[in-house]
Amino acid sequence: MKTFPKGFLWGTSSAAHQVEGDNRNNDWWEWEQTPGHVAHGDTSAVACDHYHRYREDFAMLRELNQNAHRLSIEWSRIEPSEGEFDSRQIRHYRDVLGELREQGILPMATLHHFTNPLWFIRKGGWTSSDAPRAFLPFVQRAVDELGDLVGMWCTINEPTSHHKFLLMPASRSRLDRMAAAAAQAVTDRWPVGPGRLEKVVEASGDFIGVAHYWGQLCAFDPRRPRDQFIRRFNPPGVPVTDMGWASDPSWMRQVLNDVKGYGKPVYVTENGIAARDDAVRERYLPEVLKYVHLAIEDGVDVRGYFHWTNMDNFEWAKGYGARFGLIAVDRNTLERTVKPSGRMYARIATANALPA
Ligand code: BGC
Repeated sequence: MKTFPKGFLWGTSSAAHQVEGDNRNNDWWEWEQTPGHVAHGDTSAVACDHYHRYREDFAMLRELNQNAHRLSIEWSRIEPSEGEFDSRQIRHYRDVLGELREQGILPMATLHHFTNPLWFIRKGGWTSSDAPRAFLPFVQRAVDELGDLVGMWCTINEPTSHHKFLLMPASRSRLDRMAAAAAQAVTDRWPVGPGRLEKVVEASGDFIGVAHYWGQLCAFDPRRPRDQFIRRFNPPGVPVTDMGWASDPSWMRQVLNDVKGYGKPVYVTENGIAARDDAVRERYLPEVLKYVHLAIEDGVDVRGYFHWTNMDNFEWAKGYGARFGLIAVDRNTLERTVKPSGRMYARIATANALPA
């Protein structure tokens, strides 16, 4: 029996735009309206209607013995135009977070998960030097009005533009090893810049959140000046998910060991696979958790795991075709059904251990 540390958080992760529905005041909504942008012409109009069904959804998480849940607070709802705050929406999120608390589930809240209010985009978005000043009033408001209910905050989801890839050299040659090291450094640290990531983490982060899905090989390639002379590709023979991402559960151990040196508590804030065949997820889940456990044995202070995601949802440009959920959502009726992988995750969470 592989037992996890006492108080380990077992949760799932989600994002407002992917589950709530009717978030029409942000840049993603606008982008979805152009035919060809999202697969099968899907839009987030209904998503999972979680905005209205959160009570039912959280009751299911309780049933699955979850003690934590990560969600995001939609900036464009709280601040629909610059400097104007909507008290009804603030009350809504108080109800949502309060409901989680009622169910004994600790909320982890993300303040920015990919979507931007239209007013913010119209004035230049994140490329404008004014961006931090424009974001701050919302942050202040959310913390003031919701802070008593939130257990942990994630300020910006995947601020480097992406989740934590594992980039490995395609061969033992010095050039391939350099290519992998350079690609990893750029992926992990851009746009903060080498050397500055440490400072930011040391200065302000209480914990390190790791989102990991994908690994690739890197080879030095003189024909690719535009890609920093690096060719990246999926390792041959490693299973590929419905997203086309190579995913080997053992990589999680290395990814977690990579952040050990910061000496901070670590939470896996996202990890999962897109698989229409739930049996694939059922095989993946205990395997990846085995490697989380090994990382803990290696001395990484991992305190929680948030599976992406609780229910099948609006997977950005892939629409509803990519299924990451432990719970299925019928696209006609929106009825929720726990998948076998969800039941398995519940058993692990209940035991706080992996089966022998
Ligand atoms: C994002 C999620 C997304 C998941 C799978 C993560 O990088 O935070 O919003 O659904 O990847 O693509």
